[in-house]
Parts: sequence; C-alpha cells; structure tokens
Amino acid sequence: MTLEARAIGTPLDRFDGPAKVTGTARYAFEQPVENPAYVYPLQSTIATGRVTAVQTGAAEAVPGVLAVLTSRNAPRVASSDDPEIALLQTDEVTFRGQFVGAVVAETSEVARHAAALVRFDYLPVPHDVELRFDHPDRYAPEVVNGGFATDNERGDPEAALAGAAVRHEAVYTTPRYHHNPIEPHSTTALWADDRLTLYVGSQGVHRLRTSIAELFGLAEERIRVISPHVGGAFGSKLHAHADVSLAVLAAMSVPGRPVKLALTRQQMFSQVGYRTPSIQRIRLGADDAGRLVAVTHEAVQVTARNKEFAEQTVTPTRVMYAAPNRRTTHRMVRLDVSTPTIMRAPGKTPGMYALESAMDEMAIACGQDPVEFRITNEPSVDPELDRPFSSRNLVACLEEGARRFGWAGRDPAPRSRQEAGWLVGTGVAASMYPVYRLPGSAATIRLDPDGQYTVSIGAADLGTGTWTSLTQIAADALTVPVDRITLRIGDTDLPPAMAAGGSSGMTSWGSTVVEAARQLTTRLAEEYGGTVPATGIEVSVRMPENPEMERLSMYAFGAQFAEVRVHGETGEVRVPRLLGVFAAGRIINPKTARSQLLGGMTMGLSMALHEQAVIDPRFGHVVNQDLAEYHIATNADVGAVEVHLLPEDDPYVNPMGSKGIGELGIVGTAAAIANAAHHATGVRVRDLPVSLDHFLDGAVPGGR
Ligand code: MOS
Repeated sequence: MTLEARAIGTPLDRFDGPAKVTGTARYAFEQPVENPAYVYPLQSTIATGRVTAVQTGAAEAVPGVLAVLTSRNAPRVASSDDPEIALLQTDEVTFRGQFVGAVVAETSEVARHAAALVRFDYLPVPHDVELRFDHPDRYAPEVVNGGFATDNERGDPEAALAGAAVRHEAVYTTPRYHHNPIEPHSTTALWADDRLTLYVGSQGVHRLRTSIAELFGLAEERIRVISPHVGGAFGSKLHAHADVSLAVLAAMSVPGRPVKLALTRQQMFSQVGYRTPSIQRIRLGADDAGRLVAVTHEAVQVTARNKEFAEQTVTPTRVMYAAPNRRTTHRMVRLDVSTPTIMRAPGKTPGMYALESAMDEMAIACGQDPVEFRITNEPSVDPELDRPFSSRNLVACLEEGARRFGWAGRDPAPRSRQEAGWLVGTGVAASMYPVYRLPGSAATIRLDPDGQYTVSIGAADLGTGTWTSLTQIAADALTVPVDRITLRIGDTDLPPAMAAGGSSGMTSWGSTVVEAARQLTTRLAEEYGGTVPATGIEVSVRMPENPEMERLSMYAFGAQFAEVRVHGETGEVRVPRLLGVFAAGRIINPKTARSQLLGGMTMGLSMALHEQAVIDPRFGHVVNQDLAEYHIATNADVGAVEVHLLPEDDPYVNPMGSKGIGELGIVGTAAAIANAAHHATGVRVRDLPVSLDHFLDGAVPGGR
C-alpha cells in the first residue's frame, strides 16, 4: 500500500462495500440466533382516549402464539420519564397508531395473523392534530434541541424595520417529513439469565443502552447493544423509540428465547419520529444599498402532548447574515400526535428553506443579484456572539459555484427563458451546518508484536462510511497503511462513544482516536525504545478538550445552485441540474464525503419536490403512510447533481481539520429549487413542496 493510500484525503472505497453488496453484512434483524420468536405490534385505532377492554382469547388460541402482551399483563418498567418508550404501562392513548400491545409467536406470519384477532374497546376523547400559526395553545419551550436559546434578540428590530428603505415579510411553511431509511427499525433481542442482548440498527449503542437501562431499571453492565451495520437512519435511530422497548418487553415475556421485531414501513410513520411541520414568519429590512438592517424569524412547530421535542428551526438565522437588529423565536404547539425528533440537519433544513427563500425575495426587492446580495450581507464575525469564525468560506462557495454553474449573464427577470414549452429558471441558496463536538467518547488502541493495531470505540456507521474514514484517521495518526489497522465499532463492549448525531462523529471519535494514537506512539518510543513488547501495548484515552470551541464559531458552509424547468401547460416541475459547492475543512475521504453531500442534496430535492406527510384531522394519522403515497425522489426525478469541495484549512475545529458533512448537503437545496422555480415562472412557492398545483394558474406562457 502506498503512503497516499493510508492518509486522510484519499478516496478509498468503503471497506464494508463488498459485504453489503454481496448480502453478507448482517443487519439487526438478520443476526443468526437460535430458535427466534417473532413480534407483531398492536396499534391504537383512536388518537386520544383510553382502552376500556381487551379480548385476547382468540389470538392466544392460535397455534404457535407464545404471548399476547397488552397493558394488562406487560412487564412493568422502572421509569416512565420517557413516555415514547414506556409502553403498555397504562390504558391511555395519546396518538393514533400508538403501540397498545404485541403478539409473540413462532413465526412472523402467525404473529401477524393473531394480531388481527386481538380486540380493543376504547373510550375516545376529542383530539387536535392541526398546527396553526396562531394556535391558542402555543408556548415558548425553555430551550430548543441542541441546547439553543428559545428566543434571541439584539438591537431594536421593530424600529429598524420601520425605518428600512426596503422591507420584505412572508410566511413559509414546511410539512411533516419522515426519515424512511431503507432498513426499517429492527431489533433482535434476547433476555436470558437477567441479561439483555440487543441487536439494533443504532446511531449510538451506548446512548441506546443508557435509555433502555433507565427504562427497565437495569444496570448498564447487564445490557449489551450490538450494531455493526445500519441501513440508514437520518436521525430516526438516535433516540430510543417504541420499537426497541416493545422488542424488550416481548423478550422478557419469553425469557431465554430470542425475539425479532422489524417494523413495517407503515408502522414507521407513527413510531420512530419525524420532522415537525413548521410555519415560519420572516421579516427583513434593508437600506438602499441592500444591506440588511433587521431580520426577524419566528417559527411555530409541533410537539407531542406528553413529550417535548423542540426543533431549533430559527438558529441558522442567528449566524448567516450581518444585520444589527434581530429577533428569532421558537414557539411550540402540543398536539395529539407521536413525538417528532431530529431529522437530517434538524432546524437548519426547514429554517434555511425559509431564510434562503426570503433572501431571494429580498434580493429581488433590493434590485440585486441573489449571489451579490448574500455577499453584501456577509458578516465579518458571528453576528449573534460577536466572535470570529474558525473559518467561513460562504463567499468563496458562492463565487466558485456561480462560476461553475454559469451564473454570469443570468437575466434576473422571471419567465425570461422558455424552451419547447418549458419555463426555465435558475436559483441559488446558501448551505450551513455547525461543527458539533459531543463529549463522552473514549477509545483504546492496541499494538501487537506483529505490527497490527486494533482501534476500539463504540462509534457507529449509519451507511455513511465510518468503517473506512475512521480507519483512515487512525492510519494517518499512526503513520501506517490502513491494512495495519483493525477497527472495532458498534458494540457496547467497546469503549463508550457519543452517538452519530449532528454530523459530529468524525470530530468526536476522530479527535479521540488521534489522541490515543499520539499517546501510543509516545509510549512506544519512550518506554519501549520503539520495539513492541511481546505482550503488546495498549492505551485508552478519553476525548481531549478543545478550548477553541469557546473562542470561535465553527461552521461548514456551502452554496447550492439549481436549474428548474416548469412545464407551461401541465405545471410539471423538473430539476435537470443541481450544483453544490461546499467548504467543510479537510476532507477525510473525498469519495464517501461526496456521497454524503450528493445524498444530502438528493434528499433536499426530494423535500423540495415531493415529500409531505398528510394527516387526516378526523382520525389523526398520516394517511399517506407508505412509499407509494409518501413520495421520495427516485432516479427519474434526479438530474445531474454535482458536488465540488473547496479546499479549506481550519486548524481549530479538531486535530484532523475536518468538519462534518453528513447533514450540510440537505441544507439550502429546497430554497435553491424554489428560488429557481420562481425565476422560471414568477410564482413564489412559500409552502413546500414545489408541486405542480402551484403553477397551474401561472405557468402557462402568457397566462395569469
Ligand atoms: Mo442527525 S439528524 O443529528 O442524527
């Protein structure tokens, strides 16, 4: 292996690729266990109220049924602090589709058949599942996800808006989105000898173990969680959801016997979280040179009646543009729905759709090109915290993107380009994502006399490439080829690691591995004179501190450009071309990084054009709860997607100089597409998705 082939910056193929494409990589449901039983959940058919009677006799009489669990006989849990996972403890129903029981049987077919024979009687009470901007029950949460302030204000935004030469005000809405990873949420669970073994597709095995230990009042040492491969997650496999706790309850009901539970696609729409719908009001004021003097951004969004998840939707507006007067607020409405959760770039994705749409509208109002307008409003320091950025290359991304996309000479007038019945437009939007660093990781590196290193850390690979990129980080830090490294991740028997969340994996785990490598190398030289002892050497470290995080604001930035075609007669929307230019520090593996950004942009395109969960207010459930009706972009929906990474040197973020790229790519895509659709048609879509019905009045050339 060449020197280049081990170093950070090499586009290595992912090491787990062959196992995945040949079907030998084992996911949670496929783990071979002896004589498994199968679990099928029972779901409430009312949104709110309580179960008044249960009849399980017919199900229990089916040959092969091992147990029928309901609130009447389920094992008791030790903590009801998290109502999402404290299942079957009361008769209360708080959302439609809630797990109210389960059948455990010899086969999955028998379990499912018997499940249909269990009868519940309910006493329903009225429910409310509809979000409105002025909902009478809206309230301010104490804090929003990520520990960010609910509200933030500087200067006097009202006075600045009143005195502004140019003003823009609009309301933007985003619907409820579902993660829909290819691998459904699945668990293989074994409860034996007072010990619990869980195979679960998880973003963080240690975090999941802590949740289950608290729920059941078990010492953590009695639980092992194993998760070598995860078939996508996007945030839905970070927090413990009802699927895992139902599998554990089922395992406890048949002790000594492993059980398997895989949710159906339909069940995932009520069990594993989703991105809250949002209603966002933005007001911008600028002087006559197009410099923003005021920005306000208010978001109203949903949480569950009995559990709060408050998405940090307006946080990007605190960082993006210079404006001395600013106000940003989050308000929540508790509805009778299941609990929302983080989903790829929580807060940043819906927030930047609204902000970057408003920036496009304001650029037009100011008579400036939208690229130019953003550059005009580029801050010199973090506008919320008044501290420097560790590196900020949004302007370079905008300029390089404009050059590569062919932005120069664009006629700013909407409807200025028509080709064979299609209205053609182009649009731009910014991307951003913070550099998070989550505490609590540890790593062990062992060097054996044969020269092989074993790197152990309870990290996760969600399909993102951790198996490969974390090996590269270790090889780079140890200055050896990658084939001298054996990486071990995804198991609570390994040193604890923070979950893969907030694109923080490489920063958190990588910093820890680099520190372990440094200490090992020092010990080998100082204590052993460079010769590995027969017993080998092992060092264990905790993640080192990074004091620069207190002094500097750390973000990755990008610029996305879209070409959109809207058919003049049918309103059909096409996106033949997307370009994303990103500055995300040093790139560990350009191949897997590009894949992450392509995937993020594709998910952003899907959000822009297709995705929306529709709730029937009469019944309270998602009516389009499958992949036939909840549309996700497929190959035919995606045109040319190009990713370009700008070189960026940032010595402050972490020892590798890298910034997370798992979420950056989805941020801004939807705004770039909506902005391009406006340029094509003159119709401004402020309510996602950018579906053809928005254009039926306005798209026809000469119409409207
Ligand atoms: Mo990511 S949505 O923070 O797992």
